[in-house]
Amino acid sequence: MSHKLDQLLDELKKDLSGVTQKEKVLDIKSKYLGKKGPIADIMSGLKNASLEEKKEIGSKVNIVKDQIQDLITHKLSEIESSEINETLKTSQIDITYRDYVKQTDTMHAGFHPLSAIKREIEDIFVSMGFEVLDGPHIEEEFYNFDALNIPPSHPARDMQDTFWFHDKDSTEEKKRLLRTHTSCVQVRGMLKRKPPFRFIVPGKVFRAEKIDASHEAVFHQVEGMLVDKNISVANLIYFMKVALREIFKKDVEVRLRPGFFPFVEPGFELDVKCLICGGKGCSVCKQSGWLELLPCGMIHPNVLKAGKIDPEIWNGFAFGMGLDRLVMMRFGIDDIRNIHGADLRFINQFKSY
Ligand code: DAH
Repeated sequence: MSHKLDQLLDELKKDLSGVTQKEKVLDIKSKYLGKKGPIADIMSGLKNASLEEKKEIGSKVNIVKDQIQDLITHKLSEIESSEINETLKTSQIDITYRDYVKQTDTMHAGFHPLSAIKREIEDIFVSMGFEVLDGPHIEEEFYNFDALNIPPSHPARDMQDTFWFHDKDSTEEKKRLLRTHTSCVQVRGMLKRKPPFRFIVPGKVFRAEKIDASHEAVFHQVEGMLVDKNISVANLIYFMKVALREIFKKDVEVRLRPGFFPFVEPGFELDVKCLICGGKGCSVCKQSGWLELLPCGMIHPNVLKAGKIDPEIWNGFAFGMGLDRLVMMRFGIDDIRNIHGADLRFINQFKSY
């Protein structure tokens, strides 16, 4: 019997040698292990054997059955890896292939509404001669506050709830924080240039705010700064009106109200006539007919000095736009949390921008 089983294995090896197709291997497998195969034959021949014989032969047959299975599995994986190697040799990936765009609409790329508006605003200001600057999110206390005419004990510091990187009693020389506004890039920008110049700084800002439909702890601003000679409030209004007309794609009516920001003097809140109701009063403008949109003002002489610019010769204006607010108004989004929600059902609505 042992001899017969050994023979079986030899025959199987012969059958398998040279086979290159998986289907063929599976046929061979059923030839040996199938219901009508030699193994099944031997087992049914044991029907009338003694218990002793059944035990002995049965366990030998099981060992051979396992060996047959191993040989088959080994052969199948041999064929599979040679198939893979063959494909790798012959197929090349065409990285310019774009057909998938047609197959599934959801894979079509597009800008997030916030990036779309940011890029649009950058283009508008670049066309008016502004540079686009960047700055660090982790900022030094000096640039975020001191250089902007907000000394340590100044009450204006409390206007912005700050994420600090040090504890209260730290004696570290350079205390760091997550920038609370993009205004901190004003002095960084000034120190690197000679007037006249004009730049904008779009970017993320961070405040320890309670989050609701109109407040996020992370939001976006576009800072702007223009330094030249004999700049007046009229220049500020002109630039803001032109920029807002381009952003909203229609003429906007603006008004200035006094506003307090230590880094500008005088400081203003620039309002636009409500774009939704045209000034009649609606829920968006809280029935006032005006939307508070753009804090701005004439740069405080102390800020120019911090930027190593002589305020006797040069002056200018600065402004800080809330980018998320603009996106919400432009697209009719009523909850700021959607902007950062990463919900594709929301974001995909703006694919064409
Ligand atoms: N940094 C101010 C804030 O986040 C906004 C601001 C006000 C920026 C007046 C300016 C400005 O440049 O002139 O609340």
